[in-house]
Amino acid sequence: MAVPNARLANGISIPVFGIGMDQVRDPQQAYDALSFALRIGYRSIDTASSYGNERDVGRAVKDSGIDRKDLYIATKVTGADQGYDATLRAFEKSSKLLGVDYLDGYLIHWPGKYMFVETWRALERLYREKRVRVIGVCNFNPHHIERLRREAEILPLVDQVEWHPYFDQPDLAAYCASHDIVIEAWSPLMCGGVVLEDHVIAGIASRIGKSPAQVILRWHLQGKRRIFPKSVTPGRIEENSRIFDFELSPADMSAIDALGGRQMRIGPNPDVFFDG
Ligand SMILES: NC(=O)c1ccc[n+]([C@@H]2O[C@H](COP(=O)([O-])OP(=O)(O)OC[C@H]3O[C@@H](n4cnc5c(N)ncnc54)[C@H](OP(=O)(O)O)[C@@H]3O)[C@@H](O)[C@H]2O)c1
Repeated sequence: MAVPNARLANGISIPVFGIGMDQVRDPQQAYDALSFALRIGYRSIDTASSYGNERDVGRAVKDSGIDRKDLYIATKVTGADQGYDATLRAFEKSSKLLGVDYLDGYLIHWPGKYMFVETWRALERLYREKRVRVIGVCNFNPHHIERLRREAEILPLVDQVEWHPYFDQPDLAAYCASHDIVIEAWSPLMCGGVVLEDHVIAGIASRIGKSPAQVILRWHLQGKRRIFPKSVTPGRIEENSRIFDFELSPADMSAIDALGGRQMRIGPNPDVFFDG
């Protein structure tokens, strides 16, 4: 699998594609899905302490025998662990469960209301101590990042936000581009929802001989967003990875872009969701 890299503001290059582990709560299912993905060439993993599968991810990584430096492993600090000391403790716990002595990515899962600056300072410390290569945020709007710009020292390298053909965030993308922050699209397939049956996408898919999921994932990549679609189904894990040997035309890109006007969020709005 020839996965291109995205170059981050700190000069580190990371794979633009991997597997997401949300809602894979059954330990054996998490282990089996990730083991299969690693076997067929996936090297980037997105999990979170709140997904409850860090231990299973760690087992699959260890048993894969893949050199640690060839993997990109990211996890997240949850709302209950926000704050400086609690975040440092959460980092140790996640690292232990994952069986790693450094993390590739460590992200704040949701901004919450009050403590994300303190949480961010803990991430800055972990970054300076070289315990994590990439620090970032999820679900941050420009006003959250502006606060970090005023009150912290290092800017997030990535912002992981909801983004699929029925929900785009062009203003956030423009803001992130102006600060060299790479966007990661969560629920890139709208969580397997109605977008997979959209007639514009289905039309493009049948014309170029790809599946709707492959068309959507390719659209993300050409839109310069990192993606890690989740699947526990081997056939889909494989299908989702076959997106590096074709290109969508500018007209097809625009046709899918135009669907974003629907603004159909499937997750919470970070400005009104204060948990994590
Ligand atoms: N930071 C955040 O707040 C946040 C929030 C949500 C997600 N995320 C991250 O983003 C990752 C991806 O998002 P997501 O898991 O919400 O949703 P997603 O990747 O958009 O969609 C996953 C769903 O689509 C199905 N699916 C996968 N490939 C398919 C294909 N080729 N054809 C048809 N259906 C397919 C899967 O089914 P099966 O598994 O049954 O095959 C699963 O139900 C997560 O796993 C997580 O790592 C982060």
